[in-house]
Amino acid sequence: MQGEAAKPLRVSLGDRSYPIIFAADGLAGFADSLSRVISPRRVAVVTNRRVARRYWRRVKSGLEKRGYSPIQCLVPDGEPAKTLTVAEEVIGRLIEARLDRDSAVIALGGGVVGDLAGFVAAVFLRGVPYVQVPTTLLAQVDSAVGGKTGVNHRLGKNLIGSFYQPRLVYSDIETLRTLPKRELRAGMAEVIKCGVIRDADLFGRLEKQMPRILAVDAGALVPVIRRACQLKAAVVAADELESGVRAILNFGHTFGHAIEALTEYRKYKHGEAVGIGMIMAGRISARLGLCSADAPARILDLVLAAGLPTKPPQFGRRAWERAVVADKKRRGKEIRFVGVRRIGRCEIVQISVKELLDTLDLEGRSI
Ligand SMILES: NC(=O)c1ccc[n+]([C@@H]2O[C@H](COP(=O)([O-])OP(=O)(O)OC[C@H]3O[C@@H](n4cnc5c(N)ncnc54)[C@H](O)[C@@H]3O)[C@@H](O)[C@H]2O)c1
Ligand SMILES: [Zn+2]
Repeated sequence: MQGEAAKPLRVSLGDRSYPIIFAADGLAGFADSLSRVISPRRVAVVTNRRVARRYWRRVKSGLEKRGYSPIQCLVPDGEPAKTLTVAEEVIGRLIEARLDRDSAVIALGGGVVGDLAGFVAAVFLRGVPYVQVPTTLLAQVDSAVGGKTGVNHRLGKNLIGSFYQPRLVYSDIETLRTLPKRELRAGMAEVIKCGVIRDADLFGRLEKQMPRILAVDAGALVPVIRRACQLKAAVVAADELESGVRAILNFGHTFGHAIEALTEYRKYKHGEAVGIGMIMAGRISARLGLCSADAPARILDLVLAAGLPTKPPQFGRRAWERAVVADKKRRGKEIRFVGVRRIGRCEIVQISVKELLDTLDLEGRSI
């Protein structure tokens, strides 16, 4: 892959800076890229069966050819892997395989594997180096960039974790060809979000090229992934520990998280809930007078074009209120709502949950 669209990015965090490589070689060049940041040593590849079936052999032989000694740590598929119990099992495997401070962890998989493996790397021997090889669109544009790692607690998602930056992100678009379309669409919601919050050009590109992008046409998709990473990297560099501006990455997530909770994390993928959440947030922004009606209309059309659901599930006002208040990003009774000014610009508005729901006017059925 050549040209501007394939140029590596650098996440600038002082001595914790790291590159994001964009590849289209089915992971053939991974070991080579790895050797530029971490010299050959013992490495643990955390992955799951679904991903390993497709990519393990190639990754293993590439690593061995370059002089690494890889071991495989299989974890369950999907969200159930993000627990302290599984983290402890992985750590047990690392101890048995005699990994030490000079070893490294490689996360090969989607956001679940990335969050779990990053967390293990952060706590094992008080921290060993790790790299991300994201194989879902969501992981490539979102979870693999930014250094948030962690697992779930039975009382809530992502409640246990740490900020811990990888040494390298190796993002290979070819891996997205084996990804179920529903997963691809769900990841697209986070890309749309990037367009809304910071980049009108990206949003326009998505409006024009969505069918090609969903077909994993490299010419259309790689620049989009790169742009989304660039944006997230810039926001993270400005606010690594999420105390200020990084909150705009939560656009669409107040209601997105509420929708996931209301439907008990069963009905919607995270990205699907965020798609609906962005439509709701756009409408509220227009009603609050932050933007014209054109912005929410374009958001709706683009979410629809991505093949994502657009209608909020039907729940009463009390249920919405409970779900919004329970979202951990609230501050007291006020919440930090990310509103749209126009496509490409968002801002944080302090608003009470009551006002938010009044504006949403659930009972009036006007959403
Ligand atoms: N750390 C962060 O900043 C951050 C940000 C957003 C989301 N997340 C977390 O990310 C997780 C969701 O990640 P996800 O959407 O990637 O889900 P996931 O990791 O569960 O992957 C989705 C499904 O696709 C499969 N899969 C992965 N790659 C594949 C491939 N190339 N081919 C075929 N199948 C493949 C997985 O096995 C899984 O079944 C959540 O736990 C969420 O909390 C973290
Ligand atoms: Zn998200």
